[in-house]
Amino acid sequence: MDSPGARIVVFVCVMVALFGVAFSAQSCNVLLTSNRQFTACQTIPEVGANLAWRIRNDSSNAIDFAYSGTAPSASGWVGWGINPAGAGMVGTQALIAFQSTTGAVVYQYPVTGAVKGGQSLIPGDLTLNFTDTSAVVSGAEMTIFSTLNLKAGDSISMQYVWGQGRTVDLTNNAVGPHSIPISGDAAVTNIDLLTAQASTVELPNQKLKNNHGLISAVSWGLLMPLGVMAARYLRPISGSNPAWFYTHIAFQCTGYVLGVVSWALGLKLHNLNEGGAVPYKHRNIGISIFALATLQVLALLLRPKPDAKYRKYWNIYHHTVGYATIILIIINIFEGLDLLQPEDKWTTAYVIVLCVLGGISLIMEIVIWTLWVKQRTKNNKDGMHGSQMKGTGSYRTGQDVV
Ligand SMILES: *[C@@H]1O[C@H](CO)[C@@H](O)[C@H](O)[C@H]1NC(C)=O
Repeated sequence: MDSPGARIVVFVCVMVALFGVAFSAQSCNVLLTSNRQFTACQTIPEVGANLAWRIRNDSSNAIDFAYSGTAPSASGWVGWGINPAGAGMVGTQALIAFQSTTGAVVYQYPVTGAVKGGQSLIPGDLTLNFTDTSAVVSGAEMTIFSTLNLKAGDSISMQYVWGQGRTVDLTNNAVGPHSIPISGDAAVTNIDLLTAQASTVELPNQKLKNNHGLISAVSWGLLMPLGVMAARYLRPISGSNPAWFYTHIAFQCTGYVLGVVSWALGLKLHNLNEGGAVPYKHRNIGISIFALATLQVLALLLRPKPDAKYRKYWNIYHHTVGYATIILIIINIFEGLDLLQPEDKWTTAYVIVLCVLGGISLIMEIVIWTLWVKQRTKNNKDGMHGSQMKGTGSYRTGQDVV
C-alpha cells in the first residue's frame, strides 16, 4: 500500500470525493442550518438527495419542506411528491423544479394512471394544499421549498416519492420520464414526520412483476430462440439424424410451458394494475406472442408427413410464424424492461444474451451456406456424370425425416 501507485490512487479517490461533494445536492447540514429552521432531515442515499422539514408548532397544521436533489443534467428536472393514495407512482402529488428560460421554476404535477401509461406529465391541480412553493436551481442541483397545509386529523406519516429526469419540454412544461434504466432514479419512501424514521417501501406487486419478467426472459427470451437455432443449424449438419428435431421440440415445449406460466402472471398483473394504468403495447404484444406460440404448437401436431405434397407450404408457414414470434419476443422484452425498470445489470445481461445468440447464428449461417455451396458444386459435378441432382439444396433445407 506504500507504493507511489497506491498513493496516486488514494489521491485521485480523495479528489473525486471532493468533487462529488462540491457537485452534489445541498446536504442535510446545509438545509438544517439554513434560516428556514428545519428541524429534521433525511438523506436518500441512492441519489444523494435530501429532504428536510419542520412541523410548525402553531395552530396552522402546516409542515415546511425542502427537497434538494441533483438532475442528470442542468436541462433536466428534480421532483418530489407525496402519494396520499398509498405506495407507488400513480396518485402522487408532485412538485417538480427545473430551469426555464426565465429562471428557476417549480410547478405542481398530478401523476395519474394515464401518465404511467405513457401520457406526458404536465402541470395541473393537486389534491394536496401546497403553498409558498419556490425553487432554487444552480446547474443540475435543484432545491424545492414548499409548505404543506394539512387538514385537521391528516396523517403525519406519509409516502413520499422522488425522481429526476433528463428532459423538460419548455413549451408546455411537460417533464420527460425519470431516467430509465438508471436504478434509484425514482422510488418511494415511507417517513414518519414526528420521529423522522424513514423506510423504503416495496412498490406494489413488485415480486409478481419480477417473477413475470424473469420467467418471461428465460422462457420466451432464451429457450425459444435456442430451439429455433437448434432446428435451423443442427438439421443441416445432422444429415438424416432426427436428433435436431427432438432438441427443437424439447426447447420449444419447455419454453412454451414456462412461457404460459409467465403469461398467466402477466394476466394477473394486468388485473391487479394499480390506478388503471395499462401498458397496452406490452400487453398486446404479449397476447400476440402467446397466440402465435400456441398456433406453432398446434401446427406441430397437424404437420403433414415429410414426403407429403403440402409439407413445403407447411414448412414456409411454420418458419415465418416462428421468426415473427422471435422478433415480437425481443421487442416485448425491451418493452417489459422499460416498464419494470430493473437495475442496469438486467438490461445489460439481456443485451449480452442477444449478442451471443446473434453471434452464434451468424457463424452458423456462414457454416451452413458454405456447406450448401459445396454440396451444390458436388451435385453439379455428379450431374455431368449423369447422376440425378436430387440432393440440390439439401444442406440448406435439410432432409425431413420427421
Ligand atoms: C391552503 O392552505 C392555506 C393556508 O392554511 C389556506 O389559506 C388556503 O385556504 C388553503 N387552500 C385550500 C384550497 O384549502
